Amino acid sequence: MARDGAAYVCQSCGAVHSKWAGQCSACNAWNSLVEEIQSRPPGALAPTRPTKARGLVFETLESHTPAPPRIVTGLEEFDRVCGGGIAKGSAILVGGDPGVGKSTLLLQVVGEAARRGAACAYISGEEAVDQVRARAGRMGFGESSVKLAAETAVRDIVDGLKRERFDLVVIDSIQTLWSDMHEAGPGSVTQVRAAVAELVRFAKSRGVAMLLVGHVTKDGQIAGPKVVEHMVDAVLSLEGERGYPFRILRAAKNRFGAVDEIGVFEMGDSGLREVKNPSALFLNEGGERAAGAAVFAGVEGSRPVLVEFQALVAPSAYGTPRRAVVGWDQGRLAMLLAVLEARCGVGFAGRDVYLNVAGGLRISEPAADLAAAAALISSALDVALPQNCVVFGEVSLSGEVRSVSRADTRLKEAAKLGFGRALAPSGVAETGAFRVTGVARLMEAVQRIGEDTWT
Ligand code: TYD
Ligand code: MG
Repeated sequence: MARDGAAYVCQSCGAVHSKWAGQCSACNAWNSLVEEIQSRPPGALAPTRPTKARGLVFETLESHTPAPPRIVTGLEEFDRVCGGGIAKGSAILVGGDPGVGKSTLLLQVVGEAARRGAACAYISGEEAVDQVRARAGRMGFGESSVKLAAETAVRDIVDGLKRERFDLVVIDSIQTLWSDMHEAGPGSVTQVRAAVAELVRFAKSRGVAMLLVGHVTKDGQIAGPKVVEHMVDAVLSLEGERGYPFRILRAAKNRFGAVDEIGVFEMGDSGLREVKNPSALFLNEGGERAAGAAVFAGVEGSRPVLVEFQALVAPSAYGTPRRAVVGWDQGRLAMLLAVLEARCGVGFAGRDVYLNVAGGLRISEPAADLAAAAALISSALDVALPQNCVVFGEVSLSGEVRSVSRADTRLKEAAKLGFGRALAPSGVAETGAFRVTGVARLMEAVQRIGEDTWT
């Protein structure tokens, strides 16, 4: 039996359990339950009412509220992902694995915003002020007007912020914060939620935009950003594969802009560099395109992006062949292999299959199916696709190739980068000198690639 007032809270999803268990029954995470004291303000069993309750007041939907003013930082990739700058008074959570570059990105954001006249603060609970200053100096913000502080107590942070007039404040990170209203330790679900709630309230009431850093954790030692996603206006995640310099900022939720928008950066010696034309970067430049490679003409958010899918199909040395995938969905690969086997007669039994998206980008568009399939077919049959060919299209379980949105955007980007041919769903129109090989079924793609006939 738990002590009075104690409960076991899952640090990954926030579910509350009365007993300890090895696995959270809500999200299935292992070893994520931690005992936390659920404290209430003394004497307050019912939710407290604000002292000046004015009752429920209705307004009409047609009232003309102007769009919130935006802080344009000038870091274009970041501004676009936010929906055209950071909305005043909004709270934005920036999540990502430790070491991916969240602190670097946000220091750059306030540095650039300050250059454009915004009053900015960077509050770190992880690094000393000297450390942050040294990093900013290396990144070219040595003379910046950004105010720095090292603090973890939410009450002190909010009191301090109230004394000044800031437009934009970075809190790095939410897992280091603690509020004296709760007994649970820093980094626990209770503390992280309470701290973020207080900061969001402050942001809304004062019109100060807040950028909150949240580490994504896999082991459940500290509360993940998931437990506060519902409280903030936007959730951005910074992603990157180990060993690649590229970092992708992606909007997973945005009350002030479109989701699925991406910003692309490259990590260098002096911070993150914006990548304005990602297609050129993700493509394997020069050289012959080998068997097993297919260039996918994708669209991420509002932007077309060309990336190379690389597949290797090789005889397996093990009883159970390996299926490994980087940058794409494992389940989707299994489905494609099954469709290729059942509908097209391309066998993968006894063969290892490796599929990789070049450059460290993660692709989730269904339109990538045909590109992944083309790479797999090309490797399985050991026939390379034409050098100047891009591929897109969705594949269904029946082996049909379905049309996808924004075909013209994809073709235009491909033409711009010197491609002259596409393997695409039937019905996609040819434009100018750009040749389109339309396929209605995956089997037709297998025949085309196998026979190497491209008219
Ligand atoms: P950081 O922003 O501290 O990551 P996070 O806040 O997400 O934990 O970035 C840490 C990594 O970035 C670290 O491995 C060093 C690297 N880095 C550079 O390569 N160049 C730079 O200019 C900076 C500031 C960091
Ligand atoms: Mg950091």
